[in-house]
Amino acid sequence: MMATNVGNGPAAGIVEPAALASSVTGQLRGRTGSYDKHLADLDGIYRDGKAYQQALDRLGPDWLAYRVEENQVGSGPGALITGTSTLFPLLVGGEFAMTRGHLHVRADRAELYYCVAGSGVMLMETLTGEHRAIPMNMGDAVHVPGHWIHRSVNVGDEPLVTIFCYPADAGHDYGVISDAGGMSRLVIADADSWTTHPNPGHRGDRVG
Ligand SMILES: [Fe+2]
Repeated sequence: MMATNVGNGPAAGIVEPAALASSVTGQLRGRTGSYDKHLADLDGIYRDGKAYQQALDRLGPDWLAYRVEENQVGSGPGALITGTSTLFPLLVGGEFAMTRGHLHVRADRAELYYCVAGSGVMLMETLTGEHRAIPMNMGDAVHVPGHWIHRSVNVGDEPLVTIFCYPADAGHDYGVISDAGGMSRLVIADADSWTTHPNPGHRGDRVG
């Protein structure tokens, strides 16, 4: 027998369950919001400003760099935000396409990413100088614990699509990256596919 709905809906304050199935296109069933980041929105995140300008000239400022669709119902301490991120492939001066990245405002809040398409890296670092780069290919999940600054990087030539889930009260601090001159490591193309290099523009004195 098929599962059926019983009753007239949950009691006040109880959220209706929802199927949030996603496809490799990054479309999220049950989405409550979305946002797009265009190439012009990403000024300053790539190390090579001249290469970034050339990409702008070639692709235009409205080129879609990444799209996020999300489901958020409720905002209390136990609520979750679930969504999809679709990050389109690009190389800018040897650096792979990336999201802006952030630290959660409530820094102890963790996040889970699950890769459903493409080939990527979750680049992470702490305020105390640790850094990690974990590959994400289709079927891989990456746990981003609290206190790790994180950014997705597309190291392939197809869209990188991930499903993410994190506490709704986490918040996003983007300035922690821009104020430090970027993350401490760059993800760049090499003969094998990708590697990380120290970011010469990074200011490692942000712990204080
Ligand atoms: Fe996050």
